[in-house]
Amino acid sequence: MSDANLQHGRVTFLDGRGDLSALEITTPWSRAEIFPHGATVTQFQKTGEPPVLFLSQCSRYTNDAPIRGGIPIAFPWFGKPEGKTMQHGFARVKDWELKEVASPPDGSVTVRMRLPNYADATAWPGCNVEYVVTVGEALGVELIVTNKSASEAAYEDCLHTYFTVGDISQVAVIGLKGVEYLDALDGRKRKTETAESIRFTAELDRVYLNTAHVVEIHDAALRRVIRVAKEGSRSTVVWNPWIAKAKAMADYGDEEYKQMVCVESGNVAENQVKLRAGESHRTVVRISTTKI
Ligand code: BG6
Repeated sequence: MSDANLQHGRVTFLDGRGDLSALEITTPWSRAEIFPHGATVTQFQKTGEPPVLFLSQCSRYTNDAPIRGGIPIAFPWFGKPEGKTMQHGFARVKDWELKEVASPPDGSVTVRMRLPNYADATAWPGCNVEYVVTVGEALGVELIVTNKSASEAAYEDCLHTYFTVGDISQVAVIGLKGVEYLDALDGRKRKTETAESIRFTAELDRVYLNTAHVVEIHDAALRRVIRVAKEGSRSTVVWNPWIAKAKAMADYGDEEYKQMVCVESGNVAENQVKLRAGESHRTVVRISTTKI
């Protein structure tokens, strides 16, 4: 274990959990944890507040499985499209290279990682993929994909964020009224959101399309609003597995659906990103909290 003292924050290299190593970042406002495995940010917590990200007590920490919680990165596809064997792509189970740790003058700490080259060219054309995590008063994550090949590249991405909530029955997700979505629980039928605030009384699994809106998670039990703002993301996925699916997932506690909601930002289905040779795309998410 070794540490790096920066101008403002501090980065500690931890032994991690199971087979996986981790980095702990502390700043004047907050603490975060990142696993190079999947470049998964597993925690962000402001001083004196409950954790912002949810991490399952039953998560595996092995090389061949994604971490259950935090922000796994679904890339270069979302779900399991025809012909793919791996759900949500391969990025969340690869060990990303640590490229740089820096402390900008505003007191935050940034960590830059890079997805190692993926050997199977039929599964994925040559792109350079980097991920920058900024820990400060807010949490920023940015996935930057540059097409290094000579032909067009198309991909889906989704920063699959698990948020901690006090009690799912007292949660409202706001900001998607009027937006069209694919209902994964109804054959991906296209529907329009009519609710001012989405509430949870059963399993919910939806891909909201063509929306760059800010989404807020109003959590009455923790008396907190989590604000999810984004750039370069046209899809928002909202998911809670509820009772039966929670029980069916081996790496997730039976009761944990009560303490989390996923609000995921990316570019999914018809919102997939298409890059001409040499082009780049950035999917940026900024997560902040306020007390209510
Ligand atoms: C969500 C999907 O993004 O991820 C759900 O919309 C899926 O359908 C969930 O169940 C979890 O996926 P996984 O592969 O991590 O179990």
